[in-house]
Amino acid sequence: MDLILAPTPLHPAPRLSRELGVPLLLKRDDLAGTGLGGNKLRGLEFLIADALAQGCDSLVTGAGPQSNWTMLAALACLRHGLEPHVVCYGSGGREPQGNMRLHRWLGVDVRFTGVAERSSVDAGIEAVTAELRAAGRRPYPVPRGGATPLGALGYVRASVELAAQLAQLDEPPAGLWLATGSCGTQAGLVAGAALTAAAYQVVGVTVSRPVAECADRVRELAAAAAALAGIGADLPRPDVRGGWIGPGYGVPSAAGQAAARLVAETEGVFLDPVFGAKAMAALIAECRAGRVRGPHVFLVSGGAPTLFSGGNA
Ligand SMILES: Cc1ncc(COP(=O)(O)O)c(C=O)c1O
Repeated sequence: MDLILAPTPLHPAPRLSRELGVPLLLKRDDLAGTGLGGNKLRGLEFLIADALAQGCDSLVTGAGPQSNWTMLAALACLRHGLEPHVVCYGSGGREPQGNMRLHRWLGVDVRFTGVAERSSVDAGIEAVTAELRAAGRRPYPVPRGGATPLGALGYVRASVELAAQLAQLDEPPAGLWLATGSCGTQAGLVAGAALTAAAYQVVGVTVSRPVAECADRVRELAAAAAALAGIGADLPRPDVRGGWIGPGYGVPSAAGQAAARLVAETEGVFLDPVFGAKAMAALIAECRAGRVRGPHVFLVSGGAPTLFSGGNA
């Protein structure tokens, strides 16, 4: 599937590096080439291909009303002739902004579960899938965030892309930092680092789940993705950092907003408030505390629509 204009750029961030005293590079998956970019496109390349190979005519998934995942899934579906159906937690009462505005503009079928619990989406996906089947359709259900072993292959492939870019550098990076939510991206990168015998440690900064839950999910998804990709190497224990969620998932944090402003002012790059800003805050704190050395890569994972969402998940 052709959702990514690969390779996405990898470039040094010289002014930010000078400010922090640590050489940093940005891997720009916000410039992926479909919609406003984003990490979720990489998993979607595999999931949409699978849906089409299975002869499906529609796709059902879900998350929160400001989900980058559901917006990109819907966009990718429309482009490839699948009918998207989206289930959101909450009630969706207010004027649509950010990603919800894009769902509406695209004319996507969006159903609200009516309750605030994120897990209510899971039953909603099942219900809409059953409804479509009963109507004689062939739906392809995908769990929240697209965090499946198949979806995680997107970042196994991205690791191969990154390895070719890193081979051009004088010094290999010590770390690859990213924001972690549903854990599929970090899982793919962990499996991909093993496949490419990468010198870097993959460091995920959780923006929603507790650290232990996140590490378990990354480990399970990475092992399953590695099995799918035929990667035999042992996988390291996932490195998940906590303490950066701030007031809550989807709500901007003071540290995240300060980090995002620094990146905008020094490099002209916008980090989204829900994911990238909080992960960068963690990396900046490590740099300022003198705990990291050597080049580090930061994955700019997209999320531009939530810059205009009023901050709600
Ligand atoms: C912009 C952005 N960055 C990072 C992530 C985290 O990715 P994952 O859910 O695979 O952990 C997401 C997830 O929605 C996202 O939208």
